[in-house]
Parts: sequence; C-alpha cells; structure tokens
Amino acid sequence: MVKKSVLFSTRVATMVHGAEPYGMVKDAALAVDGGKVVWIGPKEALPEKYDDWSATDYGDRLITPALIDAHTHVVFGGNRAVEFEMRLNGASYEEIARAGGGILSTVTATRLASEDELLADALTRVDALLSEGVSCIEVKSGYGLDTDTELKMLRSARRIAEARPVRVKTSFLGAHAVPPEYKAHPDDYIDNVCIPTLRRAHEEGLVDAVDGFCEGIAFNPAQIARVFDVAKELDLPVKLHAEQLSNLGGAALAASYGALSADHIEYLDEAGVAAMAKAGTVGVLLPGAFYTLHETQVPPVDLLRQYGVPISLATDCNPGSSPLTSLLLTMNMACTLFRLTPEEALTGVTRHAAQALGLDDTGKIAPGQRADLAVWDVEHPAELSYRIGFNPLHTRISGGSV
Ligand code: NIG
Ligand code: FE
Repeated sequence: MVKKSVLFSTRVATMVHGAEPYGMVKDAALAVDGGKVVWIGPKEALPEKYDDWSATDYGDRLITPALIDAHTHVVFGGNRAVEFEMRLNGASYEEIARAGGGILSTVTATRLASEDELLADALTRVDALLSEGVSCIEVKSGYGLDTDTELKMLRSARRIAEARPVRVKTSFLGAHAVPPEYKAHPDDYIDNVCIPTLRRAHEEGLVDAVDGFCEGIAFNPAQIARVFDVAKELDLPVKLHAEQLSNLGGAALAASYGALSADHIEYLDEAGVAAMAKAGTVGVLLPGAFYTLHETQVPPVDLLRQYGVPISLATDCNPGSSPLTSLLLTMNMACTLFRLTPEEALTGVTRHAAQALGLDDTGKIAPGQRADLAVWDVEHPAELSYRIGFNPLHTRISGGSV
C-alpha cells in the first residue's frame, strides 16, 4: 500500500465501543498514512485534504481490524498424533502426562531440533494463521525446560517476525512442566533452572511477558508466585494458564500480580472472576483445547460478562491439547461451545486480544492505531464466526503493508 492511501468500503467494523454493534461505520472511508490510521468515518464526511491520496475501493467487502492470536505455542518439535490416538483408545490427557508423555514428549523433540528447524516448522503454522488475516501472534517457550532450549525457542519465536510480515510477542513459559531430570525436585527446577533462565532470556531481550502453568500436573501457586516475583522485579507483565483442569486459585494469584490475562479458566470460580475484574485481567478462552480434550466444564462466561471481565479467544496452537491453526474456527467453536455471541468472538480476537498482550496500538480501527486490517468477502461480521472451515479473507494489511 502506498504511504498515503484512502480505503473505501460499504462496511468497516471498527470494534470501537459505541452505539453501533461492532463499532460499524457504513459507506466508510479510511485514511492511512505511514502505516497508521489517520481518519475513519462516513465517506461523505472525508475531509478534502485526502482527495488526492491514492484510493482503493473495496466495494461491498467488510473491513475489520486484523486478527490477533493472543495465546500460541507455535514453536515446538515433533507432533503428538500418537497420543491423540491413545486418548481415543481410552487414556486421559493427565494419565499420559503422568506417564512421561504429553508436554514432556514434545520437550524431547524440541531439545533435539535446531533453531532453524524449529523456525521452519513454526512457519508452516504461522502461515496458516496469516492466511486468515492474523497480524499479530503471541508465542510461548515452555517445551525446552532447560536454559539452552528455552533460549532456542525464544530466538526462533523472535525470528518469525523477520521471516514473515507479522508482529510477535513472546512469553517465557519455563514453568510449563517439570522436566524429567527434576521430577522429584520441582522446587529446585524453579529456583535453579526456570528463574535463572528467565533472567538470562530477559537480558537477551527475548521476553515480553512471563507465563506459567498452574495445575496438579504442573506447578502449584507458591511455585508460580516465585517466578512471578522475578517477573515483577524485571518489570515484565505476567499471564497464566489457570483453572484448566481444576481450580487451584491460579487466576486470582495472577490477578494479584496485575496479570494481563488468565487463560483456559474452565474451572474458574466467582472469587477468581471478581479478582480478575478488579485487576483488569483479560480472560483468554481456548476452545481448541476444550474441544480436543473433550472437556465438559464450560468456562463461566456469564460471570465474566457480569463482572465485566474482557473476554479474548485464541488458538492455543500446540501439539498436544490444541493442534489448531485457525482463528476463524476458534471463533466458531467459542460461539457454539461457549455460547459467545459473534460480536464477542470478533472482539475476542481483536480488541480484547490486543489487551491480553498489553498492546494499545492495534485491535481496533481508530485514528492513531496501526493500520492492521483484514478485508473479507462477507456481508455481515457474524459470517466470520458462523461458517465452519471456510476462509473468506480477501486482503490482509499489517502495519499498512498489504
Ligand atoms: O495451553 N495447558 C498447558 N499447556 C498447553 C498444552 C501443552 C501441551 O499439551 O503440549 C495448553 O493447553
Ligand atoms: Fe497454552
């Protein structure tokens, strides 16, 4: 797109909170200068000074903010199709994990892969996301569980943004699982490996946020708190895999650190919801994991609404619990499985996803925001959630680049 451009479209869903559903502007004009939106409004109100800018008319197509995937593990080695098969033959996710499979089988494959191999493999998944209008992804470490491999994963994650026109936010997830060599000493793993690795990764500029997995098969709240104390000292925001399989009070713990988000949250109770509301913590729902694990406990969506907790959605793209590379399918699943409205689903992968990553320059269409846009061959934004396995993307614009 040339530096100074005006886009026209019958419908622009700005996702800016207001009187119109989806923040819709009809018969709209949208002026972009140097990768940023400088004007948005009805075409007939477009100021004259934009008259000689290069114009593109998208006609009846819908323009929305580009999508944001706020929770992914796209960097990993190998895959876990065999465990998928085991689960269908009767084993549970927790049983497989306790028997040394699950996350740990991906750890073995990730330790063996080179940084280049991890990157090349991750790009196959990133490309699938981008083909559906994604402009920004979060990427976690957590399949290394030793210093070298965690750093290797984070370097691969950073290189995604060099290899593709996409913005990448990294999360250090050293507290994802106890590695086999520390099986009997999880506290030593936290103190002697996880925390020193976090410090090292931060020194190298590889960490944008700190994450953890608070669960019976992973780390208890006290262990997570030790990692979060270091995050706080380093001035890094935190987020947490919380209340996925049971309620350990992880979301409330994360909220007490002012967490950007608490993710999964199927088993979240009202006290946890209240704590998140007070801290402004976003609830990131991951219907791909719910679906894959055949979970039956639905996240407390009504409570989240009542308390005004912003709801986001993400793929949780990972080789075990959510081998999902479609944010559009994620939206459909959230509507059908969690009864989100299509407007909540689109908000969840735009404005609220930006909030879950601590970004205030993307996720909505307004003057001053990055020109991260998606142009769709649909008439109504509900179509983005309604269809299953259909990709109506026409054009993706990331920071003003088509
Ligand atoms: O977000 N819950 C913990 N971590 C991942 C699963 C990782 C895996 O099974 O490899 C998740 O679901
Ligand atoms: Fe996850």
